[in-house]
Amino acid sequence: MKLFARVKLNIYGKFGLLFPLKNHQICRAICPLMPYRGGNPAGMRARGKLAWYYSQPMKRHIETTKDGSSTLRVEGWDEPYHSVHGAIQESRHVFIESGLKHCNTHPLRILEMGFGTGLNALLTLLEANAMSLPVHYTGVEAFPVTLEEAGQLNYPQQLPGMGLAGDFERMHRAPWEENLQISPYFTLLKRRFDFMAVAAEEQFDLVYFDVFGARVQPEFWTEVLFEKMYRALDHGGILVTYAAKGSVRRAMQAVGFGVERLPGPPGKREMLRATKP
Ligand SMILES: C[S@@+](CC[C@H](N)C(=O)[O-])C[C@H]1O[C@@H](n2cnc3c(N)ncnc32)[C@H](O)[C@@H]1O
Repeated sequence: MKLFARVKLNIYGKFGLLFPLKNHQICRAICPLMPYRGGNPAGMRARGKLAWYYSQPMKRHIETTKDGSSTLRVEGWDEPYHSVHGAIQESRHVFIESGLKHCNTHPLRILEMGFGTGLNALLTLLEANAMSLPVHYTGVEAFPVTLEEAGQLNYPQQLPGMGLAGDFERMHRAPWEENLQISPYFTLLKRRFDFMAVAAEEQFDLVYFDVFGARVQPEFWTEVLFEKMYRALDHGGILVTYAAKGSVRRAMQAVGFGVERLPGPPGKREMLRATKP
């Protein structure tokens, strides 16, 4: 079948290609640029916008981190979803202790960049229930984990709480683009699209910025995406991330955030918390 594909690539800037291609030619043209398909390092900075590409399974496997909790690793990039020092330990420190517990808003509207395994969502549900805090949680994800992968993640067994396995499964089975109440205090909205498509205006109180590291996705640690996060947050809203690089801090400051350096989780000296004035 002939496709008329418009492929827009971002490689430290932008250029567009407009050309007619057959399916297998698209594969050949795009795959070398796509780490999820085992592509080469030069292609790590490039992102295609084809729906076809987003429907492809990511090559990844499950590992156990030092605190006993699971994580996934993207094989083409050799990039884990969480710290190898402890997935639950890191998520709790960065997103719950330094983010959620720092917010005074009630109810709380959270935007997660990279829903992935659902670990941050599950920890947030636990905290929302414990604090009787109504949370509306929006998770953006372009490359969802499969139900089979989710079933092998051991978070419900590693965390205290009744019925967590059921809650975790409901999160992963939740339809895209629909609100689903998972617990009396936790409502989930999963959105399946590219980070760059986020166009919210003052709709969130807290952003969990949990995209892959700058080594593999440098384009997401720049002013372009932080500007979108700034706009998505309400005044007084905060963004937390595990990263602490000076260039990341400066990019956040350049779009208007006030930025604090905080102690990082075990294995990491610092992390960042950005506040919209
Ligand atoms: C570091 S992982 C963290 C995921 C999640 N927070 C967790 O705890 O499992 C980054 C996530 O971003 C997703 N991702 C990568 N590139 C993306 C893009 N361009 N648009 C949307 N999601 C993307 C990945 O599929 C992955 O789930």
